[in-house]
Amino acid sequence: MESVLVTGVAGFIGSNLAERLLREGYRVVGLDNLAYGIREQIPSGVEFHKADVRSSDIYSLFDKIDIVFHLAAKNCIADCQNDPVETADINVTGTANVFEAARRAKIRKLIYAESSSIYEGSKLLPTPEEDERPETFYAASKMATKFFAEAYARWYGLKWTALRYFCVYGPRQDYRRTIPPVFSAFIIRLLRNEPPVIYGSGKKRRDFIHVNDVNDFHLLSLRDERTTGQVFNLGSGENYSVNEIFQIVRGLLDSKLEPIYKPDLPGEALTTLANIDKAKKLGWSPRVGLKEGLKSSIDFIKCEVAAGRL
Ligand SMILES: NC(=O)c1ccc[n+]([C@@H]2O[C@H](COP(=O)([O-])OP(=O)(O)OC[C@H]3O[C@@H](n4cnc5c(N)ncnc54)[C@H](O)[C@@H]3O)[C@@H](O)[C@H]2O)c1
Repeated sequence: MESVLVTGVAGFIGSNLAERLLREGYRVVGLDNLAYGIREQIPSGVEFHKADVRSSDIYSLFDKIDIVFHLAAKNCIADCQNDPVETADINVTGTANVFEAARRAKIRKLIYAESSSIYEGSKLLPTPEEDERPETFYAASKMATKFFAEAYARWYGLKWTALRYFCVYGPRQDYRRTIPPVFSAFIIRLLRNEPPVIYGSGKKRRDFIHVNDVNDFHLLSLRDERTTGQVFNLGSGENYSVNEIFQIVRGLLDSKLEPIYKPDLPGEALTTLANIDKAKKLGWSPRVGLKEGLKSSIDFIKCEVAAGRL
C-alpha cells in the first residue's frame, strides 16, 4: 500500500482528493493549518496533522511517504491583492518548504497546484500551457512555484507534476471566503430567498471543471510516468458566462429571483478557457456535465443548511 501525503487536506480539493485516495486503497496522511480549511470535512481514515507548510515541523511527516499532493495555499485573489507579502510567504516560501521536505524524504513524486490565473494576461483562447502571463499577486506566487519546481528537479532530481486548475467546483467548495465562489454564492442566496450578487456585468466567462474530473487526473499523475516534469491545464474546455450560470442555478432551484449587480472585482480575468489537449493525449477527459455537477454542489449546500452550519 503506497502512502500519500496531502497538504491543504481540510480544504475543498484536498478533502475530495483524500476521500478518493482512501477509496482507492492508499494510506493518506494529511496536513493543514486550518487557516481556511474545516477540520470536520477531513475524511475519516486520514491521519491528520495540524501544521503549517512554512514550518520545519512538517519534515518528519514526510517519512515513509511515497507521493505528495501539495494543495495548501492562500488562494482568494482579493485577499492576495490585499496582502502580497503573506501571499508570497504561504504560496512561495511554503511551497519551497514542501519541496525541501519532499527532497529530504526522497519521496517518489510530488504533484502540486498551480492555477489558471497564470494566464490572466493571455489573449489566446483556449489557452495552452505555454502562454504564461501572470498579473495578480496570487498568479505571480503560483508562477514562482514553477521556477522552484524546475530548480528542484534540476539540482536535486525531484520528480513533480504541476496542475493548473481552472474553476473547480463540487461538494465542499469553500463558501466561507470573503468572496465565495460563484456557484456557492448563488446557491446560498437563492436557498435563503435572497437575490444573489453578480460583480460586474455578468459577462465574464469561466471554464468550470468538476472536482471528480480533477481527481481522475490526480490519480493519473500519480500512476503515469509521462506526467513527470510536466504542467497540465485542468478545465473542461468549455466556458459559461456568470449570467448563464445564474440562469442554470436558478432553474435548478426553481426560483424566480433576479440578481443584484455590483461593481466589478479587481484582478479577475474576463474570460478563462482551457486548452486541455495535453491532458487529453494521456487518455483523460472530463466526464461530469455542468448540470449534473451543479446538482452535487446544491446537494452539499442543502446538507450544510440542514446541519445548521449555514
Ligand atoms: N478551487 C479552485 O478552483 C482552484 C483553482 C486554481 C487553483 N487552485 C489551487 O488548488 C489548491 C487547493 O485549492 P482549494 O480550492 O481546495 O482551496 P481551499 O482554500 O479550500 O484549501 C486550501 C487549504 O490550504 C490550507 N492552508 C492555507 N495556508 C496554509 C498553511 N500555511 N499551512 C497549511 N495549510 C494551509 C487551508 O487551511 C485550506 O484548508 C490551492 O493551491 C489553490 O491555489 C484552486
